[in-house]
Amino acid sequence: MTLSEVESLPKHVAIIMDGNGRWATEKGLSRTAGHQAGLESLKTIVNRSIQVGIEILTIFAFSSENWERPKSEVNSLLNLFLGALENEFHTLHENGVKLSFIGQIDAFPDDIQTKMKTAEESTKNNTSILLNVAANYGGRWDIQRAVQKICRKIESGIINAKDIELDLISKNLCLATLPEPDLLIRTGGEKRLSNYLLWQLAYTELYFCDTKWPDFSIAEFDKALHYFLAVERRYGGVPQKAGVEYSN
Ligand code: IPE
Ligand code: IPE
Ligand code: MG
Repeated sequence: MTLSEVESLPKHVAIIMDGNGRWATEKGLSRTAGHQAGLESLKTIVNRSIQVGIEILTIFAFSSENWERPKSEVNSLLNLFLGALENEFHTLHENGVKLSFIGQIDAFPDDIQTKMKTAEESTKNNTSILLNVAANYGGRWDIQRAVQKICRKIESGIINAKDIELDLISKNLCLATLPEPDLLIRTGGEKRLSNYLLWQLAYTELYFCDTKWPDFSIAEFDKALHYFLAVERRYGGVPQKAGVEYSN
């Protein structure tokens, strides 16, 4: 059976694409070259995701903390975004990718913001895959913004504090009503979330690998999917067999 025939594949995969800089340094290249190589990996993984039938891919492109990097690296990342929006857009569109950007987009230069909005608008009816690009995104910011939105509704008398169900909080976050990620992949060897999707990852399966993002191939991605397929998701319950054992 091929992966595309497996029904229990993750619907939603989130990825922290880490290790571009170290990959480049090891090769005596500039960190910018590492980010460029990272973009090539991303294209490969988006295509593989479409091929096997993953419905949603949510990738971490730039965190709210990445502004702390040297100005030259931030600028080269911004140039890379702009270039990618210009050069990759048509292929993504042709491949049926629906693009969405999550994060504090208004901090980006106007030309990037305009291209992001145009890309979202022109691909909104595409159905091969939803690609959420987290840019200037932080999980704590996401929760803070949701709290602010809910408080405004309380202030204007639309809801009462007692109406704040978990579902209401989820709906006010960036990914709103989308199913939460089933699988999170972090490349590059670190085992931390770096402020990514803090609320939405509560019950996500976590897969960490040492491979640096520019080396993350189809084979590596398939390995992560197989890891997911072998995991039993219990959500605080008991294994299915044990459940049967104790049921009477
Ligand atoms: C991830 O790679 C890409 C971004 C954060 C934009 P890094 O640039 O963090 O690479 P390392 O972790 O320094 O190797
Ligand atoms: C997380 O990677 C952000 C992205 C991949 C965009 P970082 O390299 O910024 O995370 P830390 O600094 O290792 O936590
Ligand atoms: Mg890093």
